[in-house]
Amino acid sequence: MNKDLEKRTIETCFSPALFPFIQTSENFIVVIVDVLRATTAICTAFENGAIEIVPIAKIKDTLKYKNSGYMIAGERDGIVIEGADFGNSPFNFSKENVKDKKIVITTTNGTQAIEQASISDTVVLGAFANISVLANWLYKQNKNVVIFCSGWKNKFNLEDTIMAGALSELLITKGFSTCFDSTYAAIDLWNIAKPNVLAYIEKASHRHRLKKIGLDDVLEYCFTQNTTNVIPFLRKHTLINILKN
Ligand code: MLT
Repeated sequence: MNKDLEKRTIETCFSPALFPFIQTSENFIVVIVDVLRATTAICTAFENGAIEIVPIAKIKDTLKYKNSGYMIAGERDGIVIEGADFGNSPFNFSKENVKDKKIVITTTNGTQAIEQASISDTVVLGAFANISVLANWLYKQNKNVVIFCSGWKNKFNLEDTIMAGALSELLITKGFSTCFDSTYAAIDLWNIAKPNVLAYIEKASHRHRLKKIGLDDVLEYCFTQNTTNVIPFLRKHTLINILKN
């Protein structure tokens, strides 16, 4: 293997609050992860033919797009925001709803993390839904990887961490390395979860939050690998599917 490729590292950032303290300082790609549900939903939207998706942190900035040719997707604490066409369930982003459409989206954590990371050179989105195409694409870039878990309101969460572990495991088999405790911890948790991910995720607080509001029908889908062949890529504050463009 090429020496430069061998040196590429993977750092995991467990929450937006920790992002200012990442240690990877140059030549890196940020992978935003929000398995339940933002990054899974966005992958699904592209898989079903959405043209572009504008991720926005604030509700009021999102609603400005109303009546300007965009569909509005938005939630806070899982609940659909007033004025939106729909919330953040991947099932909302069906072909019927999104094919050839432009969408703006605001979510509790995922779109905040995207905005925070947007100062970085390269930002892409990851979920179990696109894990293999993403790992293959990352392998082809000559860059380090920072996996940015969106968490929950600046706190650590299990679902994004196990996805970080699963992605790191794949990247390490391709020749990446890591010297970061956070990545080792994510891989360890993934190894505990892997034999029965849905049983493991019963421990996750957002799993129970979604259940309480009757929105946990997405669980199996969100933890199924490779349901999409897309890589949402941030270009000038708009997400496009880089595998298509
Ligand atoms: C988020 O961005 O925090 C999530 O996607 C919340 C959700 O809709 O479940």
